[in-house]
Amino acid sequence: MRAVLGRVFDEIILVNVLDSKDSAHLAMIKRPELGVTFTKLHCWALTHYSKCIFMDADTLVLCNIDELFQREELSAAPDPGWPDCFNSGVFVYRPSIETYNELLQFSTTKGSFDGGDQGLLNSFFSNWATADINKHLPFIYNLSSVAIYSYLPAFKQYGADAKVVHFLGNVKPWNYTYDPTTRCVMRDSQDHSSVVHPEFLNMWWDAFTTSVSPLLIEHGISKEASPGKQELSCLVYALAFTCGLSFCRKEEKLSEAVSQLSFTPPPPVASSEERRKKWEQGQADYMGVDSFENIQKKLDAYLN
Ligand code: GLC
Ligand code: MN
Repeated sequence: MRAVLGRVFDEIILVNVLDSKDSAHLAMIKRPELGVTFTKLHCWALTHYSKCIFMDADTLVLCNIDELFQREELSAAPDPGWPDCFNSGVFVYRPSIETYNELLQFSTTKGSFDGGDQGLLNSFFSNWATADINKHLPFIYNLSSVAIYSYLPAFKQYGADAKVVHFLGNVKPWNYTYDPTTRCVMRDSQDHSSVVHPEFLNMWWDAFTTSVSPLLIEHGISKEASPGKQELSCLVYALAFTCGLSFCRKEEKLSEAVSQLSFTPPPPVASSEERRKKWEQGQADYMGVDSFENIQKKLDAYLN
């Protein structure tokens, strides 16, 4: 896999995992696995670069974004769940050993309000929301898949300008199965997560099958062009189609990725009371029962 990565990236650096082990805060975002996102902090140690763009491994770059290098630390797009916070899936920063040490120090003394890197970084760069509007990246540089469903008209208006898509949430593109003949992500009839806008998901898979899979075959990692276990687990590390510098983090543990190779079964259907609670906590199931499609069906039913 290192050889394959070497074909795509100029430099590959192995880092140690940093884990917040903050299960209490991680429980609030229902993502116990995200403690290891503290590993991102290592990116500040890349001091042989003067400026970098960090990108989560679950982002997909759709066009050249070199202009981001004109921005200053810390530039990022708003988080769709709380827009006074930035989303830490894409950000512009300046490597610095001082900042790196301060961040590590901060992580042990103050910790993170979400148990992951995003809570930590927002507390550390605490004046992001108010200090300098130039540090607010347009949303099209970190278009989170969840936001598409919460403001569909805006997506219809501006979605075509998207430059980076971020597959937020616990179901990642590599958890789906793809049919290369139809060039579509496969969904079985039991799939309640209804992919209302599958185009980005299809683009991710298209990029994988055309650009990544052949490399894996060439390096003897995989024998087939269709996705196999090996390919997908490697993909968790390997896939980041970026311009400029990218820093790819381990999004999921390898074993977890392997165990989730085919489509992740949808969560059990929640009671309407549970759903209301989730709505109020800003955790609507946009991809599933609370999808635009379902809401529209309900409205139509009422109107009729
Ligand atoms: C959000 C961000 C992600 C970050 C996580 C934990 O999900 O999108 O980049 O790792 O929060 O803080
Ligand atoms: Mn992410």
